[in-house]
Amino acid sequence: MKKILVTGGCGYIGAHTIIDLIANGFEVISVDDLSRGSLRMLSGIEKITGKKVKNYKVNLCNLDDTETIFIENPDIQGVIHFAAYKSVGESVNEPLKYYNNNISSLVNVLKCARDHNVLNVVFSSSCSVYGNAEKLPVDEQTPLKEPESPYARTKQMGEAICVDFSRVNQAFNTMLLRYFNPVGAHPTAYIGEIQEKPENLVPVITQTAIGKRPQMQVFGSDYPTRDGSCVRDYIHVMDIANAHTRALQYMIDGNNDSNCEVFNLGSGVGVTVLEMIQSFEKVSGKKLNYKVGDRRPGDVVAVYADNTKAKTKLGWECKYTLDQVMDSAWRWEQNMQHESQVHLN
Ligand code: WQD
Repeated sequence: MKKILVTGGCGYIGAHTIIDLIANGFEVISVDDLSRGSLRMLSGIEKITGKKVKNYKVNLCNLDDTETIFIENPDIQGVIHFAAYKSVGESVNEPLKYYNNNISSLVNVLKCARDHNVLNVVFSSSCSVYGNAEKLPVDEQTPLKEPESPYARTKQMGEAICVDFSRVNQAFNTMLLRYFNPVGAHPTAYIGEIQEKPENLVPVITQTAIGKRPQMQVFGSDYPTRDGSCVRDYIHVMDIANAHTRALQYMIDGNNDSNCEVFNLGSGVGVTVLEMIQSFEKVSGKKLNYKVGDRRPGDVVAVYADNTKAKTKLGWECKYTLDQVMDSAWRWEQNMQHESQVHLN
């Protein structure tokens, strides 16, 4: 059975990807220092898959500790590198924290992959590398613009590091997966996104609906879009997860044209903030308490993906609808509230 190391395996996208990897016959180990991730994800994974996934509680900025994982697991055939800080706002206020964590961890993972002959590395990148693209939808050839935040810049730098690494290590494959807006939760609602004070739209909606927040704000309604609110490409986290499984298999099977390929992972559909609220109200049957306020600095007006390349080369399809995104996110929020009440009693 092919063994895969998932860094950030106790995080949102990492945990969902582990479920898809296991469902497709892979053996998985996780490394997560639990600074942002939660062991609750591993118990959810066990409930869903019946498998106990081992997590190494290691900070990937520590090379020796990271190397220990590769020494103890000489049969690792691939690494999916999710572990990184990802808050845009936090990165603006604390750039050095982001450069140190997001870049040092990647460099150490690549060093260990090289020194232990792990030939396949998937890098978790982001649509934020495109910045404010002129032409929509964006495809993988769209030139990268000046990033809107230090977080986005760490993703651009990470991609460049993977390109330079694979250029001088021809036997190795790296793959850059650019996510658009990952949203939703596993259909069982046993795992999902855990954020105390989220900035992202969907957890803000569900926290407002469940009463954790009194009201949410729509950041701007005067944009040049069909209803004045920003447009994004929201994609179910399980669709993102399946793309990782396919990307790994694609490299292990030796199908990649070059040893560093880029893929957009988006639904290909642009949706406005107000349309997201309408979808939530429809599936939850609840009226959301929101008001329209000022624009949020750093927001791009619209971005959504041309996902043709991932469809044709990885055989990947988006299976989940927007309503299923909202339904799963809402059930996860309700599940979290239920579990916190059980703990209180
Ligand atoms: C979406 C839209 C907001 C909250 C970020 C990162 C990106 C990626 C995905 C990692 C915007 C609006 C939001 C609210 C609102 N992360 N909004 N009220 O900014 O598109 O992308 O997450 O890869 O790198 O930048 O996502 O969910 O924060 O915002 O009106 O309370 O919802 O203005 O138009 P974003 P988001």
